[in-house]
Amino acid sequence: MKEKLEVGILGATGMVGAEYVRMLANHPWFKIKYVIGKKSAGKKFKEAKAGEWVTSYEPPKEISEMVVEEANAEKQSADMFFSCLPTDAARELEPLYAKYFPTFSDASAYRMEPDVPLLIPEINPEQWVLIKEQKKRGWKGFLTTGPNCTSIGLNVTLKPLHEEFKIKKVVVATMQAVSGAGFPGVASMSILDNVIPYIKDEEEKVFIETNKILGKVVDNRVEFANIDVAAMCHRVPTIDGHMESVFIETEKKITPEDAAEVLRNFKGLPQELKLPTAPDQPIIVREEPDRPQTRLDRYAGSIPGMSVVVGRIRKGLDDHSLRYVLLSHNTIRGAAGNTILTAEMFHKEGWMYDYR
Ligand SMILES: NC(=O)c1ccc[n+]([C@@H]2O[C@H](COP(=O)([O-])OP(=O)(O)OC[C@H]3O[C@@H](n4cnc5c(N)ncnc54)[C@H](OP(=O)(O)O)[C@@H]3O)[C@@H](O)[C@H]2O)c1
Repeated sequence: MKEKLEVGILGATGMVGAEYVRMLANHPWFKIKYVIGKKSAGKKFKEAKAGEWVTSYEPPKEISEMVVEEANAEKQSADMFFSCLPTDAARELEPLYAKYFPTFSDASAYRMEPDVPLLIPEINPEQWVLIKEQKKRGWKGFLTTGPNCTSIGLNVTLKPLHEEFKIKKVVVATMQAVSGAGFPGVASMSILDNVIPYIKDEEEKVFIETNKILGKVVDNRVEFANIDVAAMCHRVPTIDGHMESVFIETEKKITPEDAAEVLRNFKGLPQELKLPTAPDQPIIVREEPDRPQTRLDRYAGSIPGMSVVVGRIRKGLDDHSLRYVLLSHNTIRGAAGNTILTAEMFHKEGWMYDYR
């Protein structure tokens, strides 16, 4: 048996790709075999766009010296591929990889397909069985997706509250970091000293994805939940970390104290399995009146960037509603980290090999 599983990263030179490289560079189970891009193909990874690292992290020499390849599912071969491609490229390329290999994606292209899981490992691991339906596509491999970066932070907090208090309605105003738009993303002259109250398709995604994520799996299909979600999405001039101001209405009575306890005690399958990228606490609850804050809290927890930080838990309008604020790192928990955790779960549970 190989010491580590070999992985390829489709979109390795982008904003999310940079996080994959950082998180996989010293991973105990996985080893990077391919860094794949488009415009930067043929360059050494250190010379590609990702070489302009927006963080101070520099990858180890063996990765910096790798040559970025163009996508070619017929020629490349690895134990699995991660995809952080833009939507159009993902639509074209992901099925070509899933035909042969386990493929774990952050892109939105296939999130809503009935046979494609939309996974947050702590929240809905049971959706993995959907990949069994993908046999009908004639694939030897399979495709999973992770939700939009805003939906992930939100749903990590909604799930435990929904189980305990049964959520009927969610109203959420988001303050989303610039890195959510990729690299180079929003022009600096558009976002500095500014807030943009529009992110294309984002509000619709948060609504529909929440209902798939919190749905029930019946006969290898998801029966969608029935929760009203009104999202109001804003781009703000922070670099990383999406903040969300949430209001929920519940069927059962809810108090801030009970909600805080439920959130604080929440753990999922990744914690039970002690997966390498699983944070000890998926949700960190802060008591101070002015936390979470983007700069102070986006790397909180045992695996920096993987915990969702919640604060300002307070009464809503009545005994059946609640307000709180959450902060979630969009390229880590909201993309690369969530998807690496998904792959670890598949590997540990044997789903990668037993799905047939
Ligand atoms: N940013 C976030 O917070 C976030 C969170 C969740 C999900 N996502 C999703 O993750 C995906 C990537 O987002 P991002 O922010 O990392 O975007 P990005 O910075 O624009 O990066 C895109 C990457 O895809 C590569 N690429 C583009 N077309 C390609 C093709 N035809 N073949 C091979 N590689 C190709 C680019 O390579 P070259 O530079 O070499 O052309 C680059 O490495 C998107 O689908 C996005 O919606 C992003």
